[in-house]
Amino acid sequence: MEKISIKGGKPLYGKVKISGSKNSSLAILASCLLTNKKISIYGVPKLTDTFFFLKILSSFGVNIEGLNNFKNTNKFVLEAKKITNNKAPYNLVRKMRASILVLGPLLARTGRAIVSLPGGCSIGARPVDIHLKSLEKLGAKIFIREGYIYAEAPKGLKGNKIVFPKVSVGATTNVLMAAVLAKGTTEIYNAAKEPEIKDLGLCLKSMGAKIKGLGTNKILIEGVKELKETSYKVMFDRIEAGTYALAVAITGGEIELLGVEKKSLTLFINVLETIGVNCIEKKNSLVFKRQSNSLNPIDVTTEPYPGFPTDLQAQLMAVMAVSNGTSVITENIFENRFMHAPELIRMGANIKLKGNLAIVNGVKRLKGAEVMATDLRASVSLVLAGLVAEGTTNINRIYHIDRGYQDIVKKLKFCGANISRI
Ligand code: EPZ
Repeated sequence: MEKISIKGGKPLYGKVKISGSKNSSLAILASCLLTNKKISIYGVPKLTDTFFFLKILSSFGVNIEGLNNFKNTNKFVLEAKKITNNKAPYNLVRKMRASILVLGPLLARTGRAIVSLPGGCSIGARPVDIHLKSLEKLGAKIFIREGYIYAEAPKGLKGNKIVFPKVSVGATTNVLMAAVLAKGTTEIYNAAKEPEIKDLGLCLKSMGAKIKGLGTNKILIEGVKELKETSYKVMFDRIEAGTYALAVAITGGEIELLGVEKKSLTLFINVLETIGVNCIEKKNSLVFKRQSNSLNPIDVTTEPYPGFPTDLQAQLMAVMAVSNGTSVITENIFENRFMHAPELIRMGANIKLKGNLAIVNGVKRLKGAEVMATDLRASVSLVLAGLVAEGTTNINRIYHIDRGYQDIVKKLKFCGANISRI
């Protein structure tokens, strides 16, 4: 089994090209199902998640130019001329939970979709009840049998008023895509405001969809008969960007992140400034520089956008493990997203878990150890800890990292880290 080996202690200096957003790419690729026209998507990151998702789309009969050259291209031309299969099987969905995002578009386009219930993952139960109830509000008949979601809308979907009981990125994504082809108007209240939702919406608008309120908690969609072809570039991955900013926080040094913009990172940048990392905005990049050789503690609660992203919580915890005080991290989005804590403790971190609270008492130094990745963001928090720990850290099960971080070893090595895949 491959692992990542890191010899800690080197500050990071250099430039990192931030890849396209994993989460925005998945939703935008799924939107190809809504039309029989060609959509060309640029800036798709080379990840196991995006590769796998393209495979799932091709299993529905989508013709994908670029798929058999996945390693060397980040442009894909998708043409769902005819949907020849509308079943997303368990063996694919269980490996790729985001497959639930084909439910809305498949239903809107063909009137039928059979998608395996995605099941939970290590960070939580990950229910999809809000997705299903919302699609029923749009007129779909939905029932569950033997672990599969059967959704039907033979006469098409009808616009409606939908109020989400809680903010859900996935449910907003599914309903937004389904509503663009529904008859009449759909109003989504308590919609997710994540920049990735706005990115999907802008792509749909470039296909002729009529959408208002993207980036706010109230999205209005006027259904259209059909969508047209488009070319669209996916936004940058703000979680990858935040991860590298936290990498320079923990190691010291200065790195320039290319291809990013400040506006979708504002609150996160305020947190960095508080702990002692400065951010300088340049034309098409952000420079992060640690101010001194110590880090201040900070209390953070994860919340839906524009709050502190849950996808950066594990990485922040690694940084706070070596701050000069006590930090309280509250995880409000997922019920089991502290799996990185026991591994950080094995490296010498002083962390106490109390339900959804993690009390992190900064220590002078972490010690390298043999550790195990459990989920995508937990695994990258171990990379951050390894970058500063004394001695060597070996991280196992790094397939988790390859799901969401393109070329992470190459990018860190380029900035001076003593890191390799073995
Ligand atoms: C998306 O997951 C992201 N995944 C996650 O990123 C991210 O952590 C999450 O949004 C929050 O920002 C993709 O975009 C592919 P939610 P999603 O629906 O859509 C509960 C990563 O590391 N909920 O906003 O599944 C849910 O259990 C991944 O890149 C319901 O109760 O998140 C959670 O507690 C991890 N019922 C909360 O809402 C539902 O029907 C937020 O979940 C749906 C969600």
